[in-house]
Amino acid sequence: MNRRDFILAFGALAAMPGERPVRLRSNPFTLGVASGDPAPGGVVLWTRLAGIDPQRVAVDWEIAEDDRFRRIAKKGSSLALKEFGYSVHAEVGGLQPGRDYWYRFTAGGEASPVGRTRTARTSSGAANPFRFAFVSCQNYEHGYFTAYHHLAAEDLDVVVHLGDYIYETRFGTTIVRQHEAGEVFTLDQYRARYSLYRSDPDLQAAHAAFPWIVTPDDHEVQDNYAGAISKNEVPPEEFLRRRAAGYQAYYEFMPLRRTSMPAGPDISLFRKLSFGNLIDFHVLDTRQYRSDQPCGDGRKPRCAAALAPSQTMMGAKQENWLMTGLRSSQARWNVLANQVMIADVAQPVDGTKTYLMDTWGGYVEARKRLMNFLGQARPSNPVVITGDIHSNWVSDLKLDFDNPSSATVGTEFVGTSITSGGDGNDSVPEGLLEVNPHIKFFNTRRGYVRATVTPSLWTSDYRVVPFVSRPGAPVETRASFVVENGKLGAHRA
Ligand SMILES: [Fe+2]
Repeated sequence: MNRRDFILAFGALAAMPGERPVRLRSNPFTLGVASGDPAPGGVVLWTRLAGIDPQRVAVDWEIAEDDRFRRIAKKGSSLALKEFGYSVHAEVGGLQPGRDYWYRFTAGGEASPVGRTRTARTSSGAANPFRFAFVSCQNYEHGYFTAYHHLAAEDLDVVVHLGDYIYETRFGTTIVRQHEAGEVFTLDQYRARYSLYRSDPDLQAAHAAFPWIVTPDDHEVQDNYAGAISKNEVPPEEFLRRRAAGYQAYYEFMPLRRTSMPAGPDISLFRKLSFGNLIDFHVLDTRQYRSDQPCGDGRKPRCAAALAPSQTMMGAKQENWLMTGLRSSQARWNVLANQVMIADVAQPVDGTKTYLMDTWGGYVEARKRLMNFLGQARPSNPVVITGDIHSNWVSDLKLDFDNPSSATVGTEFVGTSITSGGDGNDSVPEGLLEVNPHIKFFNTRRGYVRATVTPSLWTSDYRVVPFVSRPGAPVETRASFVVENGKLGAHRA
C-alpha cells in the first residue's frame, strides 16, 4: 500500500491527540485560506503553511456559525506533512445545508486569517436565487487581479475556476509584474509558482470569501498539452513526470477533496456537485484524457484528423460518466464546467475558414457526440461555462454548427480572463459574428461572469474592468444575457 492509498484508506492526515506541538518563528499562514467542493453537510477547508521545515505540523481548525467564533459548529486537527508541502485539506461534515460558516486555523501558537464559506443548499431556493461567478486565466505577469477584489464583494454561493490558475512560463511581451523565475518543471518549481500567485491579496480575498469549485486547463502543467503528449514533443514518460509535478502542486494548493489526491501522473477531477434540485455542476477535465490536437495544432483549416471519430476530448470513461450524470440529473439547470470553447468559431483567412485546433472545434466528432446526446436525451437546461480563450462570448450550441437552422441544444457562456492578454477592449474582429450566426456577443475585456439562477431564469452578467495593467480599476456590467427555463439559447436581458 503506498502512502496515498494509506491516507485514503485510513484518513491518516487527522492528527492524533497528544501530537507534540511545534513552536513557529513566524506566522506560517501567509498563503491565506480557502474552502471548496461544498456539499449540503460539509465543505473542504484548505490552508498551507509557509516558511517552515519540520517533517509534520499539527494544524487545528474550527468552523463556526458566526464570524466571532462564539458558536463553534465543528473543530478538529489535521497533519500538515512535508511531503504534501504542508498543505491542509480538512473535510468537514455534519454541517447544516445552505448556510454561511466562518473558519480559521491555528498552528504553533499562530492563527490564520478568517475565511467564510457556504454549504450547498438542499432545496430549489425559489425565493433565494443561486449566485455564482466563473473565472479563468490569471496570468500574474499580465496584470493585477483587480477583478478578484470586486468579485470578493459580491454575494455568491460559489466561485468556479475553469483553469489557467498559474502560467508555467512567460507569454507575450506586456509584462507588468514578474514571475519569481522562468519556466517551471519540477515539483518545487511549481510550488514556488503557486506560492507567488497565492501571495496576491485580491486572489486571497476571493478565496477567503466563498467556496470554490476548481478544474485545471493546460497552463497548470504546460501550454496546450494533450494527455501524455507535450507541446514540444519530449518523450511521454518524461512529460508524465512533469505532469505529475504539476498535478501534485495543483492538489496541494487547491481546496480539493482527498478523492482528488494525485497518484503519480494521474489526478481524478471530473466530478458532480449538486445544489438542491436547482443546479448540478458537471465539472470536466478536458486535458488529461484528450487525444492530440489534430492538423498540427494552432489555427488551421479543417483537415481529416479533426474529423476522425477517434478524436476525444474527455476520454471514453469521462464521456460515459457525463452522459450518465446528465441522464439521471434531477436538477433544473445542468452546468458543464468546461475548459475550451465548444461553440464553433470559424475565422476566414484568405477566404478559407480556419479553426482553433485546441478547442472542441478540433475534435469535431467528439463534439457531435455531445451535441447529439443533448438533442436526444434532452437533459434539463444544459448550460456550458467555459474559459481558456481570454475573451467573452455568448453562443447557442447547435446540433449542426454548419447549418444555422439546425436545432439549438444548449447555451454556452465563455468567460474572459482575469488578466491574461493584458488590458482588453470592445472591438470585434470583422466578419466574426456574420460568419458564425450562433454567436451573439464578443469582446476581450477582462473580468468575470456572475450568474444568478432561479428555477425560471438564468442571468449571466459580464462584469468587466477597464484595465489590468495598473491597480485600482472599477468594475461594471458590460452586458447581461438570460436563458429562460425550457428555452434553449440565450438572449439579451
Ligand atoms: Fe489562459
